[in-house]
Amino acid sequence: MTLTSWARIEHEAARIKAADLKQLAGGRADGELVWKAPHLEVDVAKQPLDAGALAAMMGLAEERGLKGRIAKLFSAEIVNPSEHRPALHWALRGGGDGVPTIDAMKKEAAKAAAFAAEARAGKLGFELKTILHIGIGGSDLGPRLIWDALRTYGAGPEIRFCANVDPEDFHEAVSGVDPKTTLVLVVSKSFKTPETASNAILGREWLVKALGDSEANKHLAAVSSAPDKARAWGADASRIFPMDEAVGGRYSLWSSVGLSLQIALGADVWSRLLKGAAEMDAHFRTAPLTDNTPARLAMMDVWLHTAMDIPTRTVLAYAHRLRKLPDFLQQLEMESNGKSAQDSEGGIIAPTAPVVWGSVGTLGQHSFHQLLHQGTRMSAIEFVAALDAGGPDKERGRALLANAFGQAAALLDGRSWHEAEKQLLAQGANAEDARARAGHMHMPGGRGSTTILLDALTPESVGALIALYEHRTYAAGVLWGINPFDQWGVERGKVLAEELDAAIAGGDPGKRDPSTLRLVKRARTKFKS
Ligand code: F6P
Repeated sequence: MTLTSWARIEHEAARIKAADLKQLAGGRADGELVWKAPHLEVDVAKQPLDAGALAAMMGLAEERGLKGRIAKLFSAEIVNPSEHRPALHWALRGGGDGVPTIDAMKKEAAKAAAFAAEARAGKLGFELKTILHIGIGGSDLGPRLIWDALRTYGAGPEIRFCANVDPEDFHEAVSGVDPKTTLVLVVSKSFKTPETASNAILGREWLVKALGDSEANKHLAAVSSAPDKARAWGADASRIFPMDEAVGGRYSLWSSVGLSLQIALGADVWSRLLKGAAEMDAHFRTAPLTDNTPARLAMMDVWLHTAMDIPTRTVLAYAHRLRKLPDFLQQLEMESNGKSAQDSEGGIIAPTAPVVWGSVGTLGQHSFHQLLHQGTRMSAIEFVAALDAGGPDKERGRALLANAFGQAAALLDGRSWHEAEKQLLAQGANAEDARARAGHMHMPGGRGSTTILLDALTPESVGALIALYEHRTYAAGVLWGINPFDQWGVERGKVLAEELDAAIAGGDPGKRDPSTLRLVKRARTKFKS
């Protein structure tokens, strides 16, 4: 790595590592290190950083030409060089008119929207009560997250999701569902992802069994870049909607990948979601780096996970409706930036993407938070909450926020040995017992966290939140020096799965390691055809 800015960052990191975070955070002015963006604010005042650290990170952003790279994204230039593609997910939310690929993409999106309106108006030729959405990865996680987050806004049909190749998933998804009132929608860019291809077959068979061969096809629709394969499956050409190569799977929920959402939530909610995301796009595109929340979060990521050596990020969604957020972010961030191939002059800065994990708050509090408070492994903790938590139930909403804020404060403040001893004495313990037990109750504190607070949980704010994470991911990739838009690692796994599937059925397993050969042999006892 030849970046000159990195030496200063390392120097600042050594200084901050030696500082007392409780003191650092305790000395902040009101509102200091609270970053605003459309529909939300990001409070990083509990994180281990100060003006010197931020300035050093800004030096890296300048050296990497981040501002220019943002402009490149929004000019539809190639930002995914290993596949020679631009990344156009933002254009699906608005903008980019006049660029031929974008115009074509919008035309196709309009066709999908028209189909959604027809379906909602009951014009599919059958009464529509359920959409069975079959897809995996980027063809599943985004729609699942948004359905969970916004389903209360839609008075349309219900969406059932099916992703796993384990047939249990399919059976669960169709349990209690009537094929007569179901649209089976397969979402797969390639239409050959093994899990999806297998579930597509199950979906059609399930319809055929109840409705007969020709009637079943009327209940099929597909979103795919491989229309021939979708046709061969049985979908009518008028019900196949393309996916653009320039929109990566994990960035694709805004495209026709979100068709099931468009049907179930309706055009109004859908456009509100897009509007919120477009507002975040405008912020990311136009705000100077010093005031650009996604870009600053990306700088934070490099700061925390590379300069400060924190290997993981724990995402805690303090909103039941955002419970799928950690799953969604795992793909978005780890598939985008879990890489070690250099994409920029200046070389790669490693380690790159953190392990992203988490759960819905407050459930984690009763499980893994113990490690966060007193364990010996550090994680960068990220709380996500909404100011209208609990909806009309103010009392419970307040409790939800109090739990989020309380956890963040406890992580920072900890509990001193002396404080613990005092508490035990006050509870009636004798002096010797209190001294002995206090060590176990001691919490070191000084553990940083970020709080992302939505003004309210609405279609607009959810759109803005997802776009915030998308842009942060792109900007972090630029800073690390990697390409966030390809995924050659997972592609390799897909190929091997196909080869081993044939080997388990009795084919030649080829030259493999002894463990794989043994496992194939074991599986053959059950599956050899
Ligand atoms: O897991 C790899 C991946 O290629 C993801 O990037 C993608 O979202 C997912 O598979 C699904 O692919 P497809 O839409 O082609 O079925």
